[in-house]
This record gives sequence, C-alpha cells and structure tokens, in this order.
Amino acid sequence: MATNHANGRAGGAAERPRAFSGIQPTGTIHLGNYLGALMNWSAMQDTTDGIYCIVDLHALSVPREQGEIRLATIEAAKDLLAIGIDPERSILFVQSHVREHTELAWLIQCVTGFGELRRMTQFKDKSESNDFVSSALFTYPALQAADILLYDTDVVPVGDDQRQHVELTRDVAIRFNNRYGNDDEPVLVVPEHRIPPAGARVMDLQNPEAKMSKSLDSPAGTVNLLDTEGEIAKKFKRAVTDSDGEVRFDPETKPGVSNLLTILASATGGEPEQLAADYTQYGPLKADAAEAVLELLRPVQKRRSELDDDQVKAILADGADRARAVAAGVMDRVRDAVDLLR
Ligand code: TYM
Repeated sequence: MATNHANGRAGGAAERPRAFSGIQPTGTIHLGNYLGALMNWSAMQDTTDGIYCIVDLHALSVPREQGEIRLATIEAAKDLLAIGIDPERSILFVQSHVREHTELAWLIQCVTGFGELRRMTQFKDKSESNDFVSSALFTYPALQAADILLYDTDVVPVGDDQRQHVELTRDVAIRFNNRYGNDDEPVLVVPEHRIPPAGARVMDLQNPEAKMSKSLDSPAGTVNLLDTEGEIAKKFKRAVTDSDGEVRFDPETKPGVSNLLTILASATGGEPEQLAADYTQYGPLKADAAEAVLELLRPVQKRRSELDDDQVKAILADGADRARAVAAGVMDRVRDAVDLLR
C-alpha cells in the first residue's frame, strides 16, 4: 500500500494533516496542561484532523488505587470536551479501548535501544520519586511512540516536557522504516512536534523553578481547570516572585515574574517580553494574569458543568470505533512489513 506523505496517510486523496496527542487521566487538568497543550488541540481542529487520546494504560505505569483510573478517565474526557474538543470534528477516545496500541508498542520496543530509554529525563525524574519503579515506567516512551505512529500522525501538539519523547518517536520510526520498509514505501509516518511559543512550560506559582504539575504535589502553586474565581485570584496574588521589584522577562534570574508574563502572554496571545513593558509593579501583573486565566476558564467551567456521564461514555465509545478503524489499517501495513507467518 502506498503511503501518501503529503498528508501522512496511506493511500487515499489529499486530506488535512493529522494531529494526535494524549493526556494521562491523573486528576484534574491544570493550567500547564491547558496552556502547554490542550489549547492547541482545540485550536488545531480548524486546520488538522485531530485524534485525542486519554492514555489510561500509561497512567498504570505507577501504582494507583483500584478504580482510580476508571473514574479519572471520565473526568478527563469531560475536561477535554469542555475545553473544546469537538467529537464531530475530532476523535476522542480511551487508549485501552483500542488494543492495537499495545501490539504496536511491542514491535516498537524491539527497535528501541535500552540506552535511548535510559536517557529519557521523565523516566529519571519519575523513577527517583517512586518507591516501586515498574518496567512499564521504563518502556513508557515506546508505548507513547506506538500511540503516535498507530495513526499515521503528522503533528503532535504537546508541552515542552514531551519534546524528548516525540524526538524518540521520530528516531524509532526512522529505524523501523529502515529495517522493514524501503525508500519508496516507508512503513511509518515520521511525525513532528508542535510546541507553543509561550506556555510550553508553565511553572508552579509557589516554586517557579519546577514545572506546574498535579495539584497534590503543590496545591497553592497549581491552578486547576475547576478552581473557583476566589481560588484563582488567591493563587496568583500569593505567587512567588522576587525582591528586586522590576518587571522583566528573564526566566533564568526572574523565574516567578517570567512565569506570570508567560501565563499572561499565553492566555491573551501576546509576547512575554513585550508585555513586561506594560508593568512597573508585580501587583497589577498578578491581577491581570489572574483575570486573563479566569476569562479562559469561565466558559470551560460552564460547558463542563453541562456534561453528564452517559453522554460522555457514548462519545468515547464512538471515538474508540473510529480510532480502531484507522489503527486497524496501519497495523495491517505494519504486520505485512514485519512479515511474521500470517
Ligand atoms: P501529561 O498527561 O503529563 O500532560 C498532558 C499535556 O500537558 C502538557 N503539560 C504541560 N505543558 C506546559 N507546562 C506544564 N507545566 C505542563 N505539564 C504538562 C504535556 O506536555 C502534555 O502535552 N506522556 C504524555 C501522554 C502521552 C502522549 C502520547 C502525548 C501518551 N501518549 C502520545 C502525546 C502523544 C504525558 O504524560 O502527558
């Protein structure tokens, strides 16, 4: 089967580029997820065919309570629908509903080097903070590569912390093609990442040297999608800055102030360096950043409150059917190329 690399699809007429990305169902979505990735997912629906996945199997790579992921998966789906993922235009589904992910992951592991996985900074960070380090945490990037490659993905909208994983995906796709394809007929589409200019790395408001992550780790430093107006105002008001009093964009020496400028820029579509010129004091910058975030989140919170579980489950079931149809075609091509006895 010919691969149409103009649009990254096997055969067929010219179509829009395909975007794929994923998020772990691990509690409420925070402002880092939103500004770093999800805002792009929603916006890119105008120009790409989107496939968006709740990666429940990835979330199992660290120990979880029984039932935790099942519940968090529905919540994550509601968050994604509320931020504007439109099931009419995009496919929204759950990773474990499409078995081909784990099948391709094995084949990808067979062309991924042990040394390559050992160099992944996310593995290093997560293995240091967990008592039990599963082998799945180590091979996690191979499953992520499979997620992406299973859909002939052209572009992967992510935050900066996923850059290394998407680069590894490119490397293993090229290696797979060298091993199993030929110049005229590569087996897998080699994807590119799409990382936003501002907001790619939103930092914790209390500890601006660390990226914003789950609220459990730092409740006062993490802004959640469902925070109330009062909570958001308070978190920004108390955001850690520095004592020199000058508003300047300089992430190295002024991480707190630069983070506020980044958030404001990302939420309003401006440039952090230019926005800095509008402020002489930290107070108004904090207030404006909080207001810009509220403006973004108010409609999201309203839409989210209108969704019910059954409606969301039906959307995910339909998404899985549509995802499976794409994945089956790519897996057929991959199985032919690997050439096991059929
Ligand atoms: P996850 O669930 O940690 O995060 C989802 C998305 O949010 C981005 N992000 C941030 N962006 C800016 N600032 C922050 N503080 C911040 N924190 C998180 C992440 O970069 C990500 O884009 N391994 C992935 C999930 C995954 C995936 C995939 C992604 C599995 N398969 C295939 C893309 C393609 C992860 O754990 O993301």
